[in-house]
Amino acid sequence: MAEIGLVGLGTMGAALALNIAEKGFDIAVANRTTSRTFAFHENAGALKGRITPCESIPALVDALESPRAIILMVPAGQVVDDYIAELTPLLAPGDLIIDAGNANFKDTRRRAAASDGPMFLGIGVSGGEEGARHGPSIMGGGDRAAWDRVAPVLSAIAAKFEGTPCATYMGTDGAGHFVKTVHNGIEYADMQMIAETYGVMRDGLGMSAPEIGQVYARWNEGPLQSYLIEISGKVAAATDPETGKPMLDVILDRAGQKGTGRWTAIEAQMLGAPATTIEAAVAARNLSSRLPERREGAARLGEPSRSIHDTDGVIDALEQALLAGKIACYAQGFGLLDMASEEYGWDLPMPEIAKVWRAGCIIRSAMLDDMARALEAGPHGNLLFASGFSERMIEADASFRRIVALGATQGLPMPAFSAALAYVDGLRQPRGTANMLQGQRDFFGAHGFERLDAEGAHHGPWAMTAG
Ligand code: 6PG
Repeated sequence: MAEIGLVGLGTMGAALALNIAEKGFDIAVANRTTSRTFAFHENAGALKGRITPCESIPALVDALESPRAIILMVPAGQVVDDYIAELTPLLAPGDLIIDAGNANFKDTRRRAAASDGPMFLGIGVSGGEEGARHGPSIMGGGDRAAWDRVAPVLSAIAAKFEGTPCATYMGTDGAGHFVKTVHNGIEYADMQMIAETYGVMRDGLGMSAPEIGQVYARWNEGPLQSYLIEISGKVAAATDPETGKPMLDVILDRAGQKGTGRWTAIEAQMLGAPATTIEAAVAARNLSSRLPERREGAARLGEPSRSIHDTDGVIDALEQALLAGKIACYAQGFGLLDMASEEYGWDLPMPEIAKVWRAGCIIRSAMLDDMARALEAGPHGNLLFASGFSERMIEADASFRRIVALGATQGLPMPAFSAALAYVDGLRQPRGTANMLQGQRDFFGAHGFERLDAEGAHHGPWAMTAG
C-alpha cells in the first residue's frame, strides 16, 4: 500500500511525485489522461518501485493506506472542486485531501469550511519545476492535526535552509495559500523592479544584454544575492540558438500572468493595505500586454529622446535603488500579511514566513535571512523600521532618488520603483496632505473631518465660501 497519493501529473505534479518517491515514500499517482500516468511510471527509472500508477481515482483511493492523504496538483479553480467531488464519496472519515496548486485562498477557505467532506489542507508550493523536484518551499494552511500528520513527508521533500526544512504551518483554512499568494505578489514586484533596472541599462546607458548579464552576475555576489537576480543574469547572458542574437533581444516584450499577483493587489485593496509596489508591478504587466496601443503611443506621442550626461555611478546607484525598492516591497508585503492575519484570524507567524522563503522558492534571497532575524527580534510595526533595515534605507536614499529621477527625466518607465519611493516618502511624512482630501470630502458631501486641536467630527465653514 502507498503512504500518499497524488493526482495530476503535469510538470509540477510529476516533479513533486518523483521528489516524494526519492525521499523514500511509497506514492500512488493518477492523472486525467491515464496514458500519461503509465508513461510517467515507465520513465521513473530507479524510483519506479516506489510509485504505483493508478488508472482511475477509485483505483488510487484503493491503493492507499488508511487514513489516506491525497495531494491534488491540478489547475486552480473548478478542476479542484471537481476532484474533491469525485473523491469525497470514496473517502472515509479522517482521510485528507491536500490542494497543492496555486489556489485562491478564498476558495481554500470555502473548501476547508465544508463540514461534510474529508479533512482538507491548502498548501502553497513554490520553486517551479526544479523546486518541486528537488526541494520546494511549502506554506501550509488548514487543520493543524492534518498538517502534523503529513508534515514528515512535506518536510522531507522541502528545500532546506542550513538544515531547516522550508515547510511551515501558517494557520487555519486559507492561510497557506494566502501566504503563497503574497509570495507571488512580491515575486511580481521583484521581477518588475529588476526589469526596470534592465530598462535603464538598455535604453538609458545603451548596454547590450550580455553586458547587463554581467552586472546582474556581479550584483548576485553582494547584498542583492537572490534567485531572481541570478536567473536574470543568466537570461541576459543567453544567446538565441536560431539567430545568434542575445535571447532577450528576440523575446516579445509582453508578459502574461496566471493571476496570483493580481489577487495580491485585489486583496491589498480589499483590506486597505498599501501594497503599491506590487500593484504597480501587476499594472506594468497589464500595460505590457497592450502592445498595439504602446506602438500607437510611440507613433503619436513620440518616443522620449534620451541622453544621460552623467553616467558615473549609475550602475551602483541602480544596485542601491533595487535594494531600497526591495525592502519597501517586502515592508508592504508583510504589512499586507499582518492585516490579513487580523482580518481572517490566522495569527500568521511573520518570522516563520520570512524563514520559509529563505530557500526553495522563487523569491529566495540573502536578504530574507536578515528579515527573518529582524522579525524575530520582536514587534516593530513596519519592516522599514526594523533595526538594520532603516539604516539600509537611509544609506540607499540618494541612489533611490537619483534612479527614479533619472527615469522621470529620461522617459524610462519605472512604475514599481516610483511606487516604492512614493510609499517610503509617504511613510516619513508626519504631516501629509489628506487634510485637503478631508476638506474636499466635507465640502461636497458633509462627510466631516477631525481637527488637530479638538476631539470629534467637525464641518467646515463651506456655506460661507461656496458660490
Ligand atoms: C512559484 C511561482 C509559480 C508560478 C506562478 C506565477 O512560486 O513557484 O510563483 O507559482 O510561477 O504561477 O506565474 P504567473 O507569472 O503566470 O502568474
